[in-house]
Amino acid sequence: MHLILKQNYFQINTNFLKKWASFADMNNEIALDSFTSLTKLEKYVLLHSQWKVLYDNKSDSVCNLSNGIALLKQIFDWWWVGVYRVNGEQLMLGVFQGPPACTNILKGKGVCGLAWEQGNTLVVDDVREFPGHIACSWESISEIVIPIRLQSGEIWGVLDADSRFLSHFDATDKIELEEFCRNLGVFLSQ
Ligand code: SME
Repeated sequence: MHLILKQNYFQINTNFLKKWASFADMNNEIALDSFTSLTKLEKYVLLHSQWKVLYDNKSDSVCNLSNGIALLKQIFDWWWVGVYRVNGEQLMLGVFQGPPACTNILKGKGVCGLAWEQGNTLVVDDVREFPGHIACSWESISEIVIPIRLQSGEIWGVLDADSRFLSHFDATDKIELEEFCRNLGVFLSQ
């Protein structure tokens, strides 16, 4: 599937866009699945920029979250990525991409429930060594979970990304996904 970038995205003058430029067609459109040569940081620059283009303030949270999660999946190709949202004393599965997943997670349980309880990002290099890890898929080996806060400070839910590779998530992922979640939080507060 090709996701077509809007022309105004190309007003950003960075070197990595030149790598993309060769893929642009006569209509100033580009296939988003042609970016394997980008570094991790370049992918995050792309993520933040493209999210602003895709975000549609005339649409609701399911619509916008769906595009946000699809964007993450397409750019990073993680095994699973999605949100769990706070529902009383549990997290409930929200918009995601990847295999079917656990629907409800109690506060403090698993990586997601603990990140919610602690209000902090958790990076797990090897989920097999994380006590209480909830295995929705045996393919997941490493994981990052970031709380999503509304502008009031209240936690709306968490963003969860799983990889089939050991120690896949590092400090760059933590910093950049926290930035992405801050942007999500602003949007979810509207
Ligand atoms: N592994 C998570 C559960 C969610 S799935 O990974 C999609 C956890 O331990 O909370």
